[in-house]
Formats: sequence, structure tokens, C-alpha cells
Amino acid sequence: MGQTLTEKILDDHLVEGELEPGEEIGIEIDQVLTQDTTGTMVWLQFEALELDEVQTELAAQYCDHQTYQFDFKNTDDHRFLRSAAGTYGAHFSRPGNGICHNVHKENFAAPGKTLLGSDSHTPTPGGLGQLAIGAGGLDISVAMGGGAYYVEMPEVVNIRLEGELPEWATAKDVILHLLRELSVKGGVGKVFEYTGPGADTLTVPERTTITNMGTELGATSSIFGTDEKTKDYLARQGREDEYVELAPDEDAEYADQITVDLSDLEPLIACPSMPDKVVPVREVAGESVDQVIVGSCTNGGYEDILPAAKMLEDREVNKKTEMIVAPGSKQASEILARQGWTAEMMAAGVNFSEATCGACIGIGHVPASDSVSLRTFNRNFEGRSGIEDDNVYLCSPEVAAAAALKGEIVDPRDLSDELGDLEAPGVELPDKYDGSKADLISPDEAVDDELIKGPNIGNAPIGEPLESDIRGEALLKMEDNITTDHIIPATSDILKFRSNIEKLSEFTLSRVDETFAQRAMDADGGVLVAGENYGQGSSREHAAMCPQYLGIEAVLAQSFARIHKANLFNFGILPLAIDEETYEKLEQGDDVEVVTDVSEAVESGESEFTVRVNDDWEATATLNASERERRILSAGGKLRLTKEQYEQE
Ligand code: F3S
Repeated sequence: MGQTLTEKILDDHLVEGELEPGEEIGIEIDQVLTQDTTGTMVWLQFEALELDEVQTELAAQYCDHQTYQFDFKNTDDHRFLRSAAGTYGAHFSRPGNGICHNVHKENFAAPGKTLLGSDSHTPTPGGLGQLAIGAGGLDISVAMGGGAYYVEMPEVVNIRLEGELPEWATAKDVILHLLRELSVKGGVGKVFEYTGPGADTLTVPERTTITNMGTELGATSSIFGTDEKTKDYLARQGREDEYVELAPDEDAEYADQITVDLSDLEPLIACPSMPDKVVPVREVAGESVDQVIVGSCTNGGYEDILPAAKMLEDREVNKKTEMIVAPGSKQASEILARQGWTAEMMAAGVNFSEATCGACIGIGHVPASDSVSLRTFNRNFEGRSGIEDDNVYLCSPEVAAAAALKGEIVDPRDLSDELGDLEAPGVELPDKYDGSKADLISPDEAVDDELIKGPNIGNAPIGEPLESDIRGEALLKMEDNITTDHIIPATSDILKFRSNIEKLSEFTLSRVDETFAQRAMDADGGVLVAGENYGQGSSREHAAMCPQYLGIEAVLAQSFARIHKANLFNFGILPLAIDEETYEKLEQGDDVEVVTDVSEAVESGESEFTVRVNDDWEATATLNASERERRILSAGGKLRLTKEQYEQE
């Protein structure tokens, strides 16, 4: 039986396990990337591993999320990241140089290589044949130390593209269409592999728009094969020698196949406040628009901004609408400026932002309350824009520019008819991506050779080996669907302490109970009780690290979100599943004792644990963990385990 492209790349990198869906596999990582909000902890953990230098072929540190340096803590973080990159041998991309996914695609992404990144949109370079996966920061530190990355072998689903996009339909509409069909849960445990004659018609930047937003489908990754278009893109970036031909075998077997005829697509839009609330633009036409932003890691490239610029040429942004262009990279900005397009857009009434995530995570350009904002981004969750009562729509740059011109949502085909001389701009790549690399510092050009830590930068906490007995107060009883945002809020006033776990821990679960952190410190730890789906949301490892710091030894929940459960293992916290009856009976303040010898049971593969409450009644709790996860738990977390393994080598 032939292999899919995903299986081929995984096979080439396999160090443990079998390529059977659902089985845990270990793979070798060629490249890693990290950004500023997750990067400081990545490097602090790398420092704790006491390694001299990065072991992967390539590592890159970007500063893209909080680039504005409005607080010395951000600037200190950036300086620390530069010093860490220099000390350990990673590339460093200065704040303002662009969003990690865009800059990585331009400079380093390589077909056939594996990439692990501490950002959920890491799969972006799947559009040029790289198998790229997002992960928690500690996984990145371990991979940089040469360790394998462990993941459940995903199902590989074939998305077969037929036909060709009609005028005004774009790559963004391909992925919005899939979100409409499959929903934000449609890709969980899957890799989407794009094939077919329709795929051949798409340029690399169009492909990366699609693979970027595979994350919104919940997919582990998304990937295209390589061809003349890939070779051409790499050549324009001056990296043609990195081209490798990649395709699935003719007789590859997929878990599922979905066919999309590109010629059937039309301009689509995701309505507030979920990326899968997708409708044709014409269905919401007429809605007044206050703000339009073209940019982000999804549609912030030269090829995304140029269509908007062409549509705005010799025209003006509607007086009731503000339009901002936030390029994904300085390279895109620079080329657009050299070609005169920046001046053209400015003349039309556009404001330019530096190349940053910025507005995508509510840092700058926060919409007015209860106003409408059209963005070319990938996420529109309520409140993500920086204000709770937002109405954020997601669309292509063409739809965004049309709305900016009209002052209301409009199908660009209708606007074209109305104006008479508005032509579909199409997709155009520059002859050469010849932007300066002044903001990219290679390991050879490193300016620091030792870590520079400001007063807000602490150390990575290292857990203690698992003890035989766990006994403590049920410090908090929580409902279903507690998110990582509940556990550690991501607002900028709190996130600025991301490199200082001692300080950040003070905010643990503050959105549920403001007294929690203090009570946990006073009690010297304890246990947590929760309902279903505990820890859903982002891969934020601070949501496990801070409870660990406060001495939380176990979480008793009806069920756990997958990534958070992995993070609980990584930080040495015992995740025990309880049934509904036990959940109902448990009260906040109860004395909870795990009667089973915990360390022995974890080591011997035991899954049932007896829990005694208030020395009065008993219940059974379950530990679902692989052998590897049990080793991590026993050691007191992945950092301690990895450190011990390195010391033994
Ligand atoms: Fe994330 Fe920045 Fe993209 S916040 S979604 S990487 S623009």
C-alpha cells in the first residue's frame, strides 16, 4: 500500500512507534520556531536543561506578538530573547520584522522538513511541503535539545481540489468553505493533505493561507505537495536549492476524502464570533462597517496586500470607515513601499501598522464598542479584538477592500458592477522577494553570548518527583468547560508577567475565584475539582505551570481537554478522571486523600486510584496515561525528566 505525503515525512523522521492512527509516535524535529509570548519560557527551560547549544538543524526566535514595547517588561523580554538566541545558536528576528509564520515561510521553511513551533498557527508552511506542528513551549525546549516530539499519529484526510478559482474568489474562500462544511472541530486528530488539479493552480502564498487556517479546523497540520509553483516561490526568495519534489504515492490510502470544486466558490465571510460561522458575503451585504484591517499571518503577505492596494488605487476609503494595513512581514512592507503601493494606499486613506500580530490579539486598533470590524485574520472569538462586545468578521483582502470603499459589507462582484471600472486584482508575486534582512540576526552575527535577564525575568520552575501520598484541600470546585483563559488570563496586564512565574501565579484562576492563589499559597497546595472538558482553549503551558508552582498536586475532573492534559503531565500534576456522582458529591474545602500509593501505582501502570474524602467516603478515580506520560509524572514533570536523561548521557 502506498503512503500519503504526511506518512512519508513522518516515516523519514520516526524514532519511536508505528504509523497507526491514534498510536503515540516520536518524531525527530529539524526546525523549531518560537515567538515572544511563549519564547521566554522556552529559553528559560532550555537554560534549565543546561545544554550548550541548539541541537536542531535550525531554530528561530521571533518577536511578533507584543512588539510595541509599551512597558519595559516587553523590551526586557525582547533583549532576553536576543541574548538567548545568540547564546544558544538560534536566528533572532527583531520586533517589527514580522510575524513568525510569515518570516519563517520567507526565510527558512523547507519542503520535507519537520517544524515544531510554540504557536498554534505553526502549520502555515505546510503550503510549501513542510510538515509543521504547533506545540507547548516545553516540547520546543526538549526538541531544541535534540529530543523527539511525541504526538498521536493523526488520521490523514485528502482534500482534493478540482477546477480553478473564479474571479473574486480567493484562497481564503477555500478555507472558509471548509470551515463552513467541517466546523472548528472538524480537523481534530487529523492532517489535511491537499491534492488534485485545483491545488496545482494555487501559488505558495495562496496555499499557506489555507494551511494557516487549518488550525481553525482543529487540525494537527495541513500540507500540500511540491511542484513548479513551490520551486518558483523558493527561487523568488533566493532559496531554489532547498526545493525537493514531494507527492503522495499514487495508491496512497487516506482515512477520508473531501472534494472541493474551486470553480464553485464565491466570496465568503465568517460572521461574529466563530471562524466557522461562514456565509456568502452577499447574504450579509449592507451591514455598515466601522473598521477594516488587512494583515495577520493568514493574509498579511505582499500577495495579500497588493490586491487591496490595486482596488484602492485612485479611489478613497469611505469616510465612515477606518482602514488599516498591518503587513505580515517587513519584507512585504518594504517591497510594497519600493513599488509605490504604500504611497498609493496612504493617499486612499489607509493607515499603516508595523509588521506585528498586534490587532489580531487585541494589541492596538481595538474596535469601538459594539462596532463592526472586517479583518483578513483567522480568528474572531468574542473579545479577542480587545473588547468584549465586538463584531468581527473574517474575509479575504478583496472583500475587506470592497467594504472599505463602500463603507458597508458588499460582494466585490456587485461593487465591481456598480463602479464599472473595478477589476478583479488576481494574485501576483513580486519578481524577487528582495527585502532587506537587516532585522534578521543569524547565529553567526549574534550580538550576545550570555543571557541578559531584566528584573521581571525569573527561572523555569522544576517540579519535585511524585510522592506516594497526595492529600490536600479541594481548594476550588469548578464547572464544565473551564478554559486556559480562566486558569491564566491572557490579557496584556497579566501576560506581561509571562517570564516571571512567581508573579504570574498570583493570577491563577483569578477569573473564577480572586482569593484562589492566596488560599493555595496559605494551604501550601492542594487539589482542584472540575467538571467536563477542563482546560479547553489554547496550548498555554502557563495554565499548568502556575498551578504547579502553587503546589497543586492533582486535578480531579470529569474530563480533560487534550492539550491541557498533556501539559498537566508535563508539569507533574496528576490528572484524575472522576464520574459525575463523585463530582456532585465533592465540595470545595473537602479534605481529599488519594489512598492508593501514588508513585507506585503510576510507575506500575495502575489506572484505578482510590480517593477518600473527609475520612468519610471513598470513590474511584481513573488515570489514563501512556507509559511515557507515567515516566514524566513520576519524575515530577518533563523538564526534570529530560534534565535527568541528559545528565545520564
Ligand atoms: Fe497568532 Fe499572530 Fe497569527 S497572534 S493568529 S500568529 S497574527
